[in-house]
Amino acid sequence: MTRVFSGVKPTGHLTLGNYLGAMRQWAAVDQHRADALFCIVDLHALTVDHDPARVRRLSRQAATLLLAVGLDPALCTVFVQSHVDEHARLSYVLECVATDGEMRRMIQYKEKAARERERGGSVRLSLLTYPVLMAADILVYGADEVPVGDDQAQHVELTRDLAVRFNQRYGHTFVVPKASLPTVAARVMNLQEPTSKMGKSDDSGPGIVYLLDEPDVVRKKITRAVTDSGREIVYDRQERPGVANLLEILAACTGGNPEALSGVYESYGSLKKDTAEAVVELLSPVQERHRALCADPGYVEGVLRDGAERARALARPTVDAAYRAIGLLPAASDTGAEVVLNAAR
Ligand code: TYM
Repeated sequence: MTRVFSGVKPTGHLTLGNYLGAMRQWAAVDQHRADALFCIVDLHALTVDHDPARVRRLSRQAATLLLAVGLDPALCTVFVQSHVDEHARLSYVLECVATDGEMRRMIQYKEKAARERERGGSVRLSLLTYPVLMAADILVYGADEVPVGDDQAQHVELTRDLAVRFNQRYGHTFVVPKASLPTVAARVMNLQEPTSKMGKSDDSGPGIVYLLDEPDVVRKKITRAVTDSGREIVYDRQERPGVANLLEILAACTGGNPEALSGVYESYGSLKKDTAEAVVELLSPVQERHRALCADPGYVEGVLRDGAERARALARPTVDAAYRAIGLLPAASDTGAEVVLNAAR
């Protein structure tokens, strides 16, 4: 059976971009067709300036939202990254096959590091090595597919490179995964700056629709979205990014096609109105389930406990195999250690 892994980072409240680019696909498709694991990747939230209490709060909220969008623990595994030690164990080994140059070429690193320096802050080393931990997240489960939005494609590409390199040097150990991107809304843009991604950790609140925004807040944000000069509604991501973004959001919400929808509208006003209503309608059941789940935190905790237990059992043998392959001596208590030790003598 195909194995799928993906994750979400608790660095901010989850957004419409997270939902349309990734989470919706996980709930509607992936959990039904594959052995799927979905993870709140909390270690990744420590790569930038963070408040410990906020990370804890956002991790809990992300877990609740993953269930609210429809992930079903009877069908898939939902867990928190830091509950499974194997991610960090494997990450170090992968750092020993990755190169410094490779890390510095990562677009997200370049952008985030530049932003951090502009603010006069220092760049955490973990921000540079982040993509290696992400590779470990994926490789530790032998995932075949990684459903993500477009912004994560480069990281999945790096994961493939590291897996291939490790396998070539030390013997076949890892499955080489591939990214799967949604056909529409793989990169939802900020409503106020339609040339930048709608990112949950950005400061520009009015340009970001959060999954827990009240209907009137959603309407206001979409009505105030920046549109382009020119009046006619055409779908052109390069020349008319504002309108293209609205058309993509509407298409993703209604199952339509942005190009075809562009012919339906004659004014920005009606496009915005319909887009706002489509988003409100899409989010309403998610918000309702979120409210119900918040009333039962014990349930969410139980899901995470069971998820971590299953994830640990899957991850351990892969990391043990990687440790042996790269030349680390097995501990005497490891299963089969004697056999390996004897073979090594
Ligand atoms: P994160 O938390 O930024 O985003 C979670 C998922 O949402 C997608 N996404 C978007 N899709 C479309 N438009 C947007 N504006 C938008 N914003 C976010 C992301 O592409 C992602 O699929 N590094 C990852 C987390 C991670 C991970 C992993 C993912 C850590 N380890 C292993 C997959 C596999 C991240 O920061 O996602």
